[in-house]
Amino acid sequence: MVFLQMIHATMRIDIITVLPDLLVSPLGHSIMQRAQNKGLAKVFVHDLRPFGKGNYRQIDDYGFGGDAGMILMVEPLYNIISSLQRERSYDELIYLTPDGELFDQPMANRLSCLQNIILLCGHYKGIDHRIREHLITKEISIGDYVLSGGELAAAVVTDAVVRLLPGVLSDETSALSDSFQDGLLAPPIYSRPAQFREWKVPEVLLSGNPKLIKAWQEEQAVERTKKLRPRLLDG
Ligand code: ADE
Repeated sequence: MVFLQMIHATMRIDIITVLPDLLVSPLGHSIMQRAQNKGLAKVFVHDLRPFGKGNYRQIDDYGFGGDAGMILMVEPLYNIISSLQRERSYDELIYLTPDGELFDQPMANRLSCLQNIILLCGHYKGIDHRIREHLITKEISIGDYVLSGGELAAAVVTDAVVRLLPGVLSDETSALSDSFQDGLLAPPIYSRPAQFREWKVPEVLLSGNPKLIKAWQEEQAVERTKKLRPRLLDG
């Protein structure tokens, strides 16, 4: 018998931020930690501050045009991005911003096929627009609301992408059965006991009949999608 072993390259994610500590915990536990320990993903968090200008390592300044609020300056951003790009080439340089393309499961799937990406977190009012015009290749929003910075959005994107890398989840099919993977929400799930107080697990799940169970799960997935996310069924 021939055994084929899949060789998976490590995905590398470099996150640029003014608040590196904010990312330590979300990326240091559970599946994120396991993926990194197994060498399937490498996530590096880079502090923008050392790239700041002058003795004070200045990274932000007032905007031209008189609008209130500080802006991350073009030069420190340019320098930190260049220092990363000197080491390797990147498939995407992504800026997290509320006016970016809305993040969804198909986008997470696409990003999980890439080798090296940079996630740039904005802060204060945002970043000097010249970085967006000349260096950024993709802009992502995680929802139509404004966060205080891009760090939590970067953590969301990293988590959604890394868990899809082959070998990260112990049962590879479990990422495929997630909500959204087939354009549907996942069916309800239950564990033991089969009855708690008067709350019973649906009979069909106890039937031991895989065909019946699958049919029930598919029907539930469609029903829940119709009810909770009807727009997923458009087209
Ligand atoms: N930065 C601030 N708000 C954001 C959002 N909704 N998505 C991505 N980055 C952000």
